[in-house]
Amino acid sequence: MKTARTNAAKDLYKQLRCLTWEQLWMEHVLAFNQGDQTSRSQNAGLVRAVGVVFSETGPRSQKNDVATWLRSLLQDSDEKIRRYAMAALPKIGAESADEDALLEILRKANPPEREMKYLARALDKIGGKATLEVMGGLPGQTALKVKASLAREAAPSEIRLDEVVESFAGFQIHLRGRRGLERFVRQELEASPQARRLFDFRNSRPGLVEIAPQSAFRLCDLLSLRCFGTLAFVLGMISKPDAAEIAALITASPVRGLFTKLTQGAIRYRLEFPSLGHQRGLVRDIANQAYGLCPDILNDARSAPWAVEIHPYGGQFSVELRPRFSPDPRFSYRRLDVPAASHPPLAACMARLAGNSGSDVVWDPFCGSGLELIERGRLGGVRKLLGSDRSAEAIDIAGSNLAASGLRVVADFFHGDFRSACVAPNSITQIISNPPMGRRVPIPNLQGLISDLLHTAARVLQPGGVLVFANPISTRSLNPRLKLDMTQRIDLGGFDVQIERHIKDHR
Ligand SMILES: C[S@@+](CC[C@H](N)C(=O)[O-])C[C@H]1O[C@@H](n2cnc3c(N)ncnc32)[C@H](O)[C@@H]1O
Repeated sequence: MKTARTNAAKDLYKQLRCLTWEQLWMEHVLAFNQGDQTSRSQNAGLVRAVGVVFSETGPRSQKNDVATWLRSLLQDSDEKIRRYAMAALPKIGAESADEDALLEILRKANPPEREMKYLARALDKIGGKATLEVMGGLPGQTALKVKASLAREAAPSEIRLDEVVESFAGFQIHLRGRRGLERFVRQELEASPQARRLFDFRNSRPGLVEIAPQSAFRLCDLLSLRCFGTLAFVLGMISKPDAAEIAALITASPVRGLFTKLTQGAIRYRLEFPSLGHQRGLVRDIANQAYGLCPDILNDARSAPWAVEIHPYGGQFSVELRPRFSPDPRFSYRRLDVPAASHPPLAACMARLAGNSGSDVVWDPFCGSGLELIERGRLGGVRKLLGSDRSAEAIDIAGSNLAASGLRVVADFFHGDFRSACVAPNSITQIISNPPMGRRVPIPNLQGLISDLLHTAARVLQPGGVLVFANPISTRSLNPRLKLDMTQRIDLGGFDVQIERHIKDHR
C-alpha cells in the first residue's frame, strides 16, 4: 500500500514537472489549497514539482509567495507533504525565514527518522549561524556543511604562495601534466639553478614527474616552473580508496601544519577521484570522518582552495593535496581565449624547445590567443614577435594577452592566412606554433596545410633557424634543407600529436 502511494506520488510528480510554471501555480496549487486533507495527500507530488519547476522557470517576483506556501506546508499533517516542502525550500532560494521555519520543527518536535533526514538535508544547504546553535539532534554532516558555507560566505580562502614551507621532509611533490611532457618538466627543473637547489628530480611516469624538496621552499618557487600542469603534495599511499585511511591522511598532524601554513582563511578542500568518477558515498564518508578527526578542516565542493585527489599509482593509490589556482598565476596574462587555445604548459614546453639564440625573431603563423609567442617572449633573447591568424578576433586577443603579460618586446600581428603574410625569406630565427588539428573545426585539407607550413618554414627561416610545432599528422618535410631534429608524442587532451623540432641547415 505504501509502495503504491509512493509510486502514485512519483508518477504525479513526473506529469506535473512537465507543466509550465503558470499552469502549476495558477491551476494545480489553487486546487491543492482548496482540497481536503485526503486530496492534498493524494497530490503530494505537486509540492515536489513546484520546487523543481520554480527553480528552473519561476519568476523571481513570485518567490516570496512560493516560499510562504512551502513554509506553511512544513506544518501539514501529512508527513510526505512536509518532507517534500523541506526538499523544495532550498531549491527556490534560501532565506533566513526558511531556516527559522525548518529549525522550528526541530525545536518543537522530535521528527521521525525519515523526516529528520530531509530536514538535515535542507539545513545542509540553507543552514547558517542559527543552525549551528541548535545542532543537537542533527547529523555531524550538517554542521560540516553549514560551517563550510558560512566560512565560504565570510571570506574567500586563498593559497599563500609566499609562505615558507619548513617542514618539507616528509612530502614528495607530484607535478602532473599532459602525457609526453615529462622530459620538458624535468629539463626545466634541472636547467633552473634556483629550482635545482630546492628540489630533486626523483622519478617520472606518463603524465607525472616526482620531485622531493631539498630545503625550505615556497609555492611560488614551484610556480617559477611553467612546463607542468598541476602540483600536489603526496600525503600517502594506500592500497584501496578507504574512507578511514584517507580521512586519517588528510588530518594527520604534518598535513594540518601544511594546511594552516599555506591557507589564508578557512581550510576547505574538495575531494576528487580523477580515475573513479564522482564517488558520492565515499566523499561523504571521508568528509564526515575527517571532520570528526579535525573540525577545522572542512570538506566543501564549492570554490575550495584545496583539492584532495586520489590517483591510481602502480597497483596502489596516491592521496595528494593540490592547491587549486584559478586562474593559474603563471598564466594570468590570459585575459581572453580563442576556442582552440593551446594548453599553457604545452606552449611553455614548445617555447623552451625552440631554444634562445639571444636575438630571436619569432613567428607563430597560427597564433590564436598568443600563448606560444608570450611564453617564448618570457624566456628573453627576443628581438621581435610576429603573429598571424585568419581570425580577426584571435589577433585582437593575442594583442591584449601580450599587453597583459607586461612583456616589453616589439610585436607585429597580421590578420589573414599565414601563406599570405609578408614574411621575407631567411628573416625568421624561430617558428613556434600549434596549428589547427581539424578536430573541432574541420580543415578541408589538413595535409596540405601542414605541407605548406613546412614549405613556408624552409623558405622564411634563417639558416640554423628552428621550427617547433605540434604535428597532428605524419606529414614530413620534403625540403632537404629542413631536418627533423627531435620528436615527442604527447597527449593533447584525448588525442595524440607529435611535437617536432626541425632545423634549417646552414648550406
Ligand atoms: C590551435 S589554434 C592556435 C592556438 C594558439 N596557439 C593559442 O595559444 O591560442 C589554431 C589557430 O589557427 C588559426 N588558423 C587556422 N587556419 C589558418 C590559416 N590558414 N592561416 C592562419 N591562421 C589559421 C585559427 O583561427 C586558430 O586561431
